Amino acid sequence: MILCAPLSLPAGTLPKPMSDVAELENFVIQDCGSCHGLALKGGLGPPLRPENLDHLPEAAIAAIIREGIPGTAMPPWKPLLTPADIEWISHQLKTGKLVSP
Ligand code: HEC
Repeated sequence: MILCAPLSLPAGTLPKPMSDVAELENFVIQDCGSCHGLALKGGLGPPLRPENLDHLPEAAIAAIIREGIPGTAMPPWKPLLTPADIEWISHQLKTGKLVSP
């Protein structure tokens, strides 16, 4: 499993906006993918392909990414991602643009 490198940033590091789409895409594949699978088909965490996320509206996905799921391995990402990054990722997960069919 790929280690979540950004998690080792010193405490208090401010979220840096990942305005670069390629950088964000890479982040989702590498960092989310380290638990959810590189094709987001699941691993330690559940699959995150559009057909798996019917039960979650985009806003709920954003809330999960922001706050994590307490008591599980799903960490909160708000120290690392801006609200805009989180919205972008939620939208990509819902539409499946990051994964091939
Ligand atoms: C350290 C492992 C880990 C990483 C990294 C991780 N997740 Fe998770 N994630 C989990 C686990 C485990 C769950 C399931 C928790 C549970 O039991 O409900 C989960 C659940 C979720 C869910 C809810 C899925 C559902 O069907 O209920 C979403 C959405 C999600 N993660 C998105 C992300 C995104 C986006 C990223 C990257 C920013 C990410 N996760 C990174 C472990 C991880």
